[in-house]
Amino acid sequence: MLRSPSNSPGGVSRRVVLGGGLAAGAGGCAQAQPVVAPARDLGGNPGPGLWEIARGRGIAFGAAVQAQLLATDPAYEQAYAREAGVLVPEFEGKWSVLQPKEGEFDFRLLEAIVQWGQARGRTTRGHALVWHEAFPEWAVNALSEGAPRARAVMAAHIARVLSTTRLRIRDWDVVNEVIADPPGSDTPQAEGELRNSPFLRALGPSYIETAFRLAREQDPTLRLVLNDYGLEEDTPWAAEKRRRLLNLVRSLVRARVPIDAVGIQAHLQMDRPFRPQVFGDFVRALRAEGLSVLVTELDIREASSVPDDFVARDRLIAERAGAFISSALEAGVKTFLTWGLVDRYSWLVLEPAVGRRDGKLHRGLPLDWEYNRKEMWRAMARAFASA
Ligand code: G3I
Repeated sequence: MLRSPSNSPGGVSRRVVLGGGLAAGAGGCAQAQPVVAPARDLGGNPGPGLWEIARGRGIAFGAAVQAQLLATDPAYEQAYAREAGVLVPEFEGKWSVLQPKEGEFDFRLLEAIVQWGQARGRTTRGHALVWHEAFPEWAVNALSEGAPRARAVMAAHIARVLSTTRLRIRDWDVVNEVIADPPGSDTPQAEGELRNSPFLRALGPSYIETAFRLAREQDPTLRLVLNDYGLEEDTPWAAEKRRRLLNLVRSLVRARVPIDAVGIQAHLQMDRPFRPQVFGDFVRALRAEGLSVLVTELDIREASSVPDDFVARDRLIAERAGAFISSALEAGVKTFLTWGLVDRYSWLVLEPAVGRRDGKLHRGLPLDWEYNRKEMWRAMARAFASA
């Protein structure tokens, strides 16, 4: 039996043990564990998933997904089949997986996700062509060998990835997290409004424009997205990051750079204030530039001050999720992805750097440790259904 953590509603759901089978642990290694069927909704009725509820209102809903878990954990796969209409590879579309060595490409894991989705009428969005993380050492070194080499390496990656996937992946985060974190934020950068990345050092600010133009050369119909985080809350540093992003986007649009959309990651933090009007105004300002806006990586990081029992925690998390999604919907956002579906595999649980200071496990996704639909799921379903 897969063990749930102390603060998860063990026993609350009705579960059917399907007998022996392989379930992947969080690290992806398969262990002989009885496979637990996804718990039915607390109301006992699986009912339509979030993607069907959203689709009924002209909204796309999906989630980040891991190929290995899709292949090895039946409960995980069933949850995605039930809830996600759009898939985004959690790391299978990143440079370190696709081109681990110069000129050696490996699309197997990405293809596995695309094919799983296509077999079920789901779409896959691409994440991320140009990003300073999940960026292999060979590429860091190549970018430090002068601008011509740097541009050639970036161009070769973009060309190969898009020419290989363009008929199956129609929407890509072309650049990810290019705005520098302002003073006051978690990881402030001392100076400059653009992140001091290997790309910026090698090519200067124009690398962003270059990346979009190179992507557009591969296919005139792809949706090309600039994706970033820390843009949602009512704090001085989020306001500054919104200002910086708007400045950048306006300059790209003015220069007729082929950018189609902005992705707002929405890794929300409960200990930060959120004002729907402030966030809605930001989305409207982006759309006034002729861009679409997507919510690309929604999850909710709890403050350690949040009450201990999961009922109170889940209610507060659901309130934040509902307020956020409603303000995004009202401002015209039509695509929402969460960064995972189920708490047990969330980066919020697996990455110590973002864990709760009191060691409790975050509950920032729609399904709890044992695939039960949480208050957050209901808040999202209500927001989509009333859009
Ligand atoms: O698969 C390998 C495994 O074989 C190996 O044993 C293990 C130990 O090194 O690493 C595993 O890969 C890890 C991978 O996650 C899968 O778990 C990488 O080390 C680890 O760096 C990677 O972290 C991902 C991170 O992006 C960097 O790619 C997180 O899962 C993923 O949630 C996170 O997602 C990012 C978005 O792309 C951008 N926005 C922020 C978001 C959260 O950081």
